[in-house]
Amino acid sequence: MGVLQKLSELNLVIKYRKQLKPVLTSYLHFFENTETSVWGSITEDDEQGIKHAVVQSGKHKGPIVEIGALFGHTTNLLASMKRTGVILITVENFTWNPFSLPPEVHRQFTMRTLRYALEHCSTQVFDGNAADFYLANGTLKPSLIFIDAGHDYESVRKDIDWAVSTGCPVISGHDYTVAHPGVVKAVDETFGNNISLYGSVWIHQRRECE
Ligand SMILES: C[S@@+](CC[C@H](N)C(=O)[O-])C[C@H]1O[C@@H](n2cnc3c(N)ncnc32)[C@H](O)[C@@H]1O
Repeated sequence: MGVLQKLSELNLVIKYRKQLKPVLTSYLHFFENTETSVWGSITEDDEQGIKHAVVQSGKHKGPIVEIGALFGHTTNLLASMKRTGVILITVENFTWNPFSLPPEVHRQFTMRTLRYALEHCSTQVFDGNAADFYLANGTLKPSLIFIDAGHDYESVRKDIDWAVSTGCPVISGHDYTVAHPGVVKAVDETFGNNISLYGSVWIHQRRECE
């Protein structure tokens, strides 16, 4: 690499230093913590939990709802595991991703990743806030709700409250770990010991449905 090119790159780094800081911080976090999260998505242990939740939900009628798609990894997993014809709705507002991609780029990336599921696996994206989805779907009764959006206590609390209000028989979510005390607090408050854990995926099954 020539000196001029190096200088031009240095210039870019200086020019975009504000944008680069969160990218680097997030990159190094996920680079160092591969055992608990794969770049904001699930680990192989977590996958077993999602597979288990989908199997349990298969005994019931109703769509599967995912809150928080990110790049569509769990959406694709749910789509690949569910019975043919069961509707899968994933709710995503494109406000966070580990690479600080702008929302429109994040959206494009995710929609392309989900192309097969959207076209062939009865899968839909609700492009918006979870709160708006809840308002618009007061009478929905899903067979499975998978919660993995905002990880602060208030967000998880609202997601779980809506999930419980629907009467959904299998409610599950990601990141039940010390790194996410808000998730642990909201889950414990609602379900106590009545959850199973697979990696950091928690699953609650309504008692009469077990
Ligand atoms: C941890 S990521 C989801 C990871 C994904 N389930 C996976 O394992 O591949 C959280 C996602 O939730 C989205 N999100 C956060 N708050 C949200 C909200 N209030 N409504 C909808 N989506 C939200 C973020 O944009 C982000 O893409």
